Amino acid sequence: MKQLSTGNRLIFVLLLSIFSFPHLLQAQKTSVQNIDRRVEELLVKMTVEEKIGQLNQIASDINTGTDLKKDDLLGQIRAGQVGSVLSHINFENKILIQKTAVKESRLGIPVLFGFDVIHGYKTIFPIPLAQAASWNLGAIEAAEHIAAMEAAADGQNWTFSPMVDVTHDPRWGRIMEGAGEDPWLGSRIAEARVRGFQGADLSADNTLAACAKHFAGYGFIEGGREYNSVDISDQRLHESVLPPFKAAADAGVATFMCAFNTLNGVPTTMSKYLLTDILRDGWGWPGMVVSDWNSIGETLIHGTAIDDADASAKCLSAGCDMDMAGRTYQRGLKTALQQGRVTDQQLDAAVRRVLRLKFMLGLMDDPFRYLNPQRREQMLERPEYRQAARALAAESMVLLKNGGGLLPLDKDSPFKKIALIGPYANSIGHKDYMSFWTLGLGNPAYDSTKVVTPAQALVPALEEMGFEVTYTEVCLDATCTEKDLSVALQAARAADLVIALVGEQGLNCGESRSVSTLELPRSQEKLLQVVARNNKPSVVVLFNSRPLVFPWALENVPAILVAWQPGYETGNALADILTGAVNPSGKLPVTFPRRTGQIPMYYNHLNTGRPQEFLGQMWTSGYLDLENSPAFPFGFGLSYTTFAYSGLQLSKPAVDMDETLEVSVRVTNTGKLAGQEVVQLYVRDLAADISRPVRELKGFEKITLAPGASRTVVFKLTQADLAYRNPEGRFKADPGMFQVFVGGSSADGLTTRFELR
Ligand code: NOJ
Repeated sequence: MKQLSTGNRLIFVLLLSIFSFPHLLQAQKTSVQNIDRRVEELLVKMTVEEKIGQLNQIASDINTGTDLKKDDLLGQIRAGQVGSVLSHINFENKILIQKTAVKESRLGIPVLFGFDVIHGYKTIFPIPLAQAASWNLGAIEAAEHIAAMEAAADGQNWTFSPMVDVTHDPRWGRIMEGAGEDPWLGSRIAEARVRGFQGADLSADNTLAACAKHFAGYGFIEGGREYNSVDISDQRLHESVLPPFKAAADAGVATFMCAFNTLNGVPTTMSKYLLTDILRDGWGWPGMVVSDWNSIGETLIHGTAIDDADASAKCLSAGCDMDMAGRTYQRGLKTALQQGRVTDQQLDAAVRRVLRLKFMLGLMDDPFRYLNPQRREQMLERPEYRQAARALAAESMVLLKNGGGLLPLDKDSPFKKIALIGPYANSIGHKDYMSFWTLGLGNPAYDSTKVVTPAQALVPALEEMGFEVTYTEVCLDATCTEKDLSVALQAARAADLVIALVGEQGLNCGESRSVSTLELPRSQEKLLQVVARNNKPSVVVLFNSRPLVFPWALENVPAILVAWQPGYETGNALADILTGAVNPSGKLPVTFPRRTGQIPMYYNHLNTGRPQEFLGQMWTSGYLDLENSPAFPFGFGLSYTTFAYSGLQLSKPAVDMDETLEVSVRVTNTGKLAGQEVVQLYVRDLAADISRPVRELKGFEKITLAPGASRTVVFKLTQADLAYRNPEGRFKADPGMFQVFVGGSSADGLTTRFELR
């Protein structure tokens, strides 16, 4: 499968060869048996208090990183009470912390430094949901490798990423951290991210331990309301939620994180079903599990534990090894042991997993391997990282409409004067184009002035092409006034074409950022309407962290581009797309509904016994006031060129269970520009033991075609691709008829049938 554009491949290979190779040798030195032996040698020397200390992860002052005195952090480390520190920024203090752990604690065990590296570390990439829209696994892997190189050079050795939560609910602010609604695409992206962070060798000084989170079900919180309860069927759990976690486990992810939510009544942090039966016994995954922030302590609030000892006993015995930020184990685990509610063996098993990770990271042999000031100087914010961020941001953008071929703005465009209008034309002070993770924490690792804004890049780029450009920043949500609108109107009147940059603020996206409506703010819609009064053509550029709803623009604006929150290279990437230097190739990894009330909305739904064909069709499954189709379906995205699909063929009309079916299709670039197309393969089981989704993604290939060129794309389908979890809980494929679809989105394409015997 070709996933890497030539440019990205080059950057990736270059980075890998420059930074990774010497460390591969190191990996061979520390064999697994050797690690296990050394872990046991250490374990027998440890007191109960020291063991509990290894399970204690403490939060430090993320703003300054200098708050070492507040809780006597160093004193606790010296006493062997701390196994890990999270969200620590200050580099010198990290050295001090590690020195204290290694030189002043009795056993000298180094600490793990954990950090939320969500879309880049110093060089900020587009949000993960945007990255998913690129459908470019190689570029996503390369982005995480860059993030890992920066973070590791700055002293971090563990990232709380990737978030692999599938969700059907765009109200949930954390939709931006995942790969969207599809478990199959989400699984491939989960693998890519794990590979990107961890590389071939966890002990290399340019890789990080990754963390698959949040295990599990968090994406299905009721009403999309943050931290809410989750109540889903086992079918949904196993088919929609777990696959990306399993993929991450199989890709060797070093750690898992529990979720804040209850799953069918049980807080995930004390779910033996999830943490032991599925993760460890079922999948045989050997790594370390960390709670979410105080989620052990929150079992008391859920009403499932009476005190710290009870919470500690329930969570540790369920399989949660490390306590993030809550100190519940520190307060309650010893009592739980004394009460006989946790065995020494259970405690040792958890400590073993923490120590093992420290060995695997190379920390036990060289505790300062991630804390080298010279390396730090060389590795942060290199120009080639910016280049990769720009390419990925452009590849993530999704063209939703391009009426009359309005875009790209090139020499043949019939316009002379262009007005950039809207709150996100040049938003410097408001800290947009990124997410909560890079803005909301007040984190000095990030600097919003490093963002290239749309105006900063577009004005010179368009002027150089001979356009006259103005920009007017108006209408920031509730602050929008009639005066703002008349300024916008004047600017629009003076122009031949308007580019309206609207959408969401950066801080709208991330943890604790749920919303009850997806509609574009009223003020912004009004802005678009005012501009339209001019009868001038306009292009809407959306900055968004989730699917938004914009019925007026959908009907009335000829060209719409989803830019997401693109990160530091926002303006340059946007200029690349709008001027046609890069032909858009992003495809939606989530469905865009027409109205918030349609949620949950996802392409791989069941058919119902009465599917609706048109609005108003009685006795069918639908609404009286809105058609069932989305505004834009999963997998959708336009290009400046066009692609035609023909000649869908199967290698055989019927296959046996152990055979592989080949599905081939001819794709032709029928337009005038070179472009990339994401060719998507979907299947449907037509007569299974339980009702199956109307379509399920089972493959894709991103291809590049010159104008007029064609290519045959071949997919392979095996029994495993057709299997599902049957009512007895086993994954298996039913013999019978299947439908296969190949096309450019989940809502179109060629189709045929085959039989599985
Ligand atoms: C809570 C979030 O849910 C989790 O994703 C994150 O990694 C931790 N806080 C640490 O910041």
